[in-house]
Amino acid sequence: MAKTRLAVLVSGGGTNLQTIINACVNEEINAEVAVVISSRKGAYALERARMAQIPGIVCSPRHYANPVLHSKAIAEALEAYQVDLIILAGFMSILSDEFVNTYPNRIMNTHPALLPSFGGKGCYGQHVHQQVLDYGVKVSGATIMFVDTGIDTGPIILQEAVAIAEDETVDSLQQKVLKIEHRLYVEAIGLFADHRLRVDGRRVHILPLNS
Ligand code: GAR
Repeated sequence: MAKTRLAVLVSGGGTNLQTIINACVNEEINAEVAVVISSRKGAYALERARMAQIPGIVCSPRHYANPVLHSKAIAEALEAYQVDLIILAGFMSILSDEFVNTYPNRIMNTHPALLPSFGGKGCYGQHVHQQVLDYGVKVSGATIMFVDTGIDTGPIILQEAVAIAEDETVDSLQQKVLKIEHRLYVEAIGLFADHRLRVDGRRVHILPLNS
């Protein structure tokens, strides 16, 4: 079976990107990273792409008059790479409705909390963990979902919870959750590559092997 071609969109350190690259190279999943697009010029994720000999492109929202034009530029950059699945991995820009509608159930995102809690506008990165601790919930976790035109509202593919410790800090929670994200993201991409995800409204069914 042909490998699923991935575009990974990033803005920061790219630990998720690295895990995905490793899983592809080690053939844990039937996929390959065809291109990395960063919304920030200095993102370390771009260095990770370079080290893996994957083309890296900078597409900063600062260079466009509005988010619609920014998304359009990303779509144009993607054209040359013929990707099957777009992976948002710490990508901190909002994609336009037009962009999202061009790739129905073909854009995945990871969020460092158990959606639908602690998601939405302004809820990203360390802010999420701060809000989780401030609220005093006893569990948090990670969510991998398909992207729809809302913010953090798409159909959920995988989730896993983690207990909040008595002495939990933003940093310790971030580390715990990142570990889960890395594992779940690779699993979700693997399921997509093996054609084992079926989206039925809001529900994502995981089909049995060899179905
Ligand atoms: C991840 O924790 C991801 O869930 C979060 O940014 C981090 C990126 O880490 N994304 C969001 O908060 C999006 N709402 P990485 O650059 O090391 O992969």
